[in-house]
Amino acid sequence: MTLKLFRRAHIFTPETGVAPTFGGAQGDIPEIVDGCILVRDGRVAAVGAGEKIEKNIAGRSTDVDMEIDLGGAAVIPGFVDPHTHACFAARREGEFSMRLAGKPYLEILKAGGGILSSVRAVRAASEGELFRFSKALLETTLHYGTTTIEVKSGYGLDTENELKMLGVIDRLRRETPQSVVPTFMGAHAVPEEYGGKPDEYVRLLLDEMLPAVRDQGVARFCDVFCEDGVFSVEQSRKILNGARELGLKPKIHADEVNDLGGAALAGELRATSAEHLLAASDAGISALADGGVVAVLLPATAYSLKKSFARARTMIDRGVPVALATDLNPGSCFCASMPFVFSLAVMGMNMTPAEALTGATLNSAWAIGMEKEVGSLEPGKWADFVVLDGESPAALAYASGTRPILSVWKRGEKVA
Ligand code: NIG
Ligand code: FE
Repeated sequence: MTLKLFRRAHIFTPETGVAPTFGGAQGDIPEIVDGCILVRDGRVAAVGAGEKIEKNIAGRSTDVDMEIDLGGAAVIPGFVDPHTHACFAARREGEFSMRLAGKPYLEILKAGGGILSSVRAVRAASEGELFRFSKALLETTLHYGTTTIEVKSGYGLDTENELKMLGVIDRLRRETPQSVVPTFMGAHAVPEEYGGKPDEYVRLLLDEMLPAVRDQGVARFCDVFCEDGVFSVEQSRKILNGARELGLKPKIHADEVNDLGGAALAGELRATSAEHLLAASDAGISALADGGVVAVLLPATAYSLKKSFARARTMIDRGVPVALATDLNPGSCFCASMPFVFSLAVMGMNMTPAEALTGATLNSAWAIGMEKEVGSLEPGKWADFVVLDGESPAALAYASGTRPILSVWKRGEKVA
C-alpha cells in the first residue's frame, strides 16, 4: 500500500449526486481553502480541511510514504474530455484552408473529402501507425490536463477497419496513463462504396458491424452523426436501438449544423448524451431536460467552423446538465486543449467558471458513464487532478490561450 498526502491545496471540486448536475447546482462548487488530499494506492482516501486530515493521520499507525506541498495553488479534478475523434492517421490542414476560403464543412464531405478523406487514411494505415499517431494526440491532451478521455471510432466505416480502430483505442487505454473510454461510431458517414445507398449501409451496421463490435467487447457506447446528408433521424433511431439491444449505450451527434430533430431523438431514447447542439431548437432542448440527457457542448468546434455557439445558458436555465468537450478531430476541430474549451465556454457561451468546471469534470464523467471513477475529488475515486497556475478555476479563462497549469496528476502520480 502507498499513502501520499497532498498538503496546502486550494481545492475546487463538484460533488457527485445521483444524477448529472443541472440547473443552479451546476454552478455550485464547494471550496476548501487550506485543504489536503490523502491518496491510497492511486485513489482518494480523504479530502478536506488540512488540519482535520493531518490530525486523523497523526492518530493512526500507518505512515504516509510521501508528502507533497502544493503551496496553496488552486486544485481542480482532472479534465474529463467526453467527446473526441482522437484516433486518426493524418491531418487535414488543406481542408481547413478550403473552409477558410468559404467552402462549407458539409460540402467538403459531400464531395468525398472531410470524414471520407480520414477514412482513406485510416484504412491505409497499419495498426502500429494508427496507434503511434493517436498516442501522440493523447499525450498532448494529457499535457493540457485531460486525465480521462473518450475516443470514437468512425474513420473505418467497414467491419475490419472499425474493429481495427477500436483495437487501437483499447491499446491506448492499456498503454497511456489516461482512462480511455471507447465509443463505436460506424455511423459517422456513409462510406464511398455505399454512396447513394445509405439504407444498405444501415443494414450492414445492424446485421454485421454491431454484432462484431459486441463480440470484440471494447466499445461501451454507440454514436451516430444525425445530420442532413449523413444519417436521418429515422436511421439514427434504428442504429441506436440496435446498438442498445447489444449492450451499447446511445450517444448522438445532434443538430450540429442543421436542426434535424437530433436532440428530440436523444430525449426520446433517453440517450446518455447529445453532442454539439449548435442548432438545437427550444423543443429539442426541452426534450433533453425531460430525458435527463447530458448536453455535451463543443465550443472549439463552433469556433473552428465559425458558427454561433450552442445556447448553454438556455440549456442550464431549462435544467439540462451541460458538459464540455474538445471534439479533437482532424477536420471540424483540431483542438486538444480543455483549458481553451473552458475559456470559450466562459467567454463565448456565458457560463460561469464554476459551471464550466462542473461541465469539464463531473458532468463530462456522467456523459461517458465514468461518474463513479472520476470527475471530482471524493473518496473512492481516482486521485486525478490539475494544479492550476492561479487562484481559482477562473484562471483558465482569465489566462485564455495559455496553459495556466503547474502540474497534472493521474492516480496520484505526476504525469505532466
Ligand atoms: O464532431 N460531425 C461529425 N464528426 C466530427 C468531425 C469529424 C471530422 O471532420 O473528421 C465532429 O465535428
Ligand atoms: Fe464529434
